[in-house]
Amino acid sequence: MQAIDGYTRTCGLIGNPVEHTLSPVIHNTLAELTGQKLCYVPFHVETGRLEDAVKGAYALNLLGLNVTVPYKSEVIPFLKEIDPLAQKIGAVNTLVRMEGGYKGYNTDMPGLYRAMCADGVKIEGERVLILGAGGVARAVAVLLAEKGANEIILMNRTVEKAKKVAGEVNGYAGRELVKAMANEDYGKLPQDRKYLVIQATSVGLHPHDEDVVIEDEAFYERIHTGYDLIFNPPQTKFMKLVQAHGGRAFNGAKMLLYQGVIAYEYWTNTQITEEQAQTVFEAMQRKD
Ligand code: ATR
Repeated sequence: MQAIDGYTRTCGLIGNPVEHTLSPVIHNTLAELTGQKLCYVPFHVETGRLEDAVKGAYALNLLGLNVTVPYKSEVIPFLKEIDPLAQKIGAVNTLVRMEGGYKGYNTDMPGLYRAMCADGVKIEGERVLILGAGGVARAVAVLLAEKGANEIILMNRTVEKAKKVAGEVNGYAGRELVKAMANEDYGKLPQDRKYLVIQATSVGLHPHDEDVVIEDEAFYERIHTGYDLIFNPPQTKFMKLVQAHGGRAFNGAKMLLYQGVIAYEYWTNTQITEEQAQTVFEAMQRKD
C-alpha cells in the first residue's frame, strides 16, 4: 500500500453490505501499479442515508465512488448527470466527480463485454440465451443488443417478467430482437443450433453452490458456451453441467475485474494495460 499524504485522493464503495467486497483490492492494486496517489475504501451506507452519503462524499472532495447493492438504481436521482448507457440500463455502479456533483456510469456491462472479449467469447451475430429477467439480466440484454447479437432469448421462471423486459429492450433496439421463454419450455428451442448462455440469476451463489436454474441435463446439450456472472464459487453447478456436456464455461470474476478497471480509468483519466489488469486479477484471486 502506498504512503498516504496530503495529495492522496479518495475513492470508495457505497452499499449495504460492503464488508465482503473485493473492490479495495482492485483499486488499491491499480493505484500501486500506476503510481497514482489514490486510496479506495468501503463505506457502509445505512438504509435511508444514500442522499446524505452522496452529498457528503462530494463535500469531502471524493474523486469517485462505486455503488453496489441495493443502491444501483436508487442513486440515480442524486446524480448531476447520467451516461446514456447507464440510463438505458437503469443502474449506475460508478460515480465520477464533476463540477457540482457526480456523473453516473454503468461499468458492469462494459466490464462484462471486456471480460468476454478477454475470454474469446463472441457476441456479434450470436444466438444468446439469458437465464433470468431481473435487473442484471435486463442489463445484459441491453449490452447484447448494443453489441449486435443476432437473437436474444430471455428465459425466466416467471415468464411475464421476461416478456416485460423483452418489450422494453426491443423498444431500445427498435426491432423484435428479444424473445421471452419460460424455464420449463427449453425443450422448445430449435434442435439445430447451440447457444451462448449467460447465467444472470443469483441461483448457485455461495453457500447454495449446488443450486442451478435448470437441472435437466438435456438443456446443457444446447449450450456451446456458458457464462455465469457468479464468481463465488468460482466453479458453479451451471458451469460444471455446461462442461460435462462439452461446452466452454466461464465465471463472473473477470467481469468484476473489468468493471473496476473501467471505473478506475474514468476516475484517473488513464488507460490500464492488459498486463496491469492481469496483475490485479492475480491479486483478487489471492484475496479470495
Ligand atoms: P438482480 O437485480 O440480481 O437481477 P432480481 O431483479 O431479484 O435480481 O432478479 C433475480 C432473477 O433470478 C429473476 O429472474 C428470478 O426469477 P423470477 O423473476 O421468476 O423471480 C431469478 N431467480 C431467483 N431465484 C430463482 C430460482 N430459485 N429459480 C429460478 N429463477 C430464480
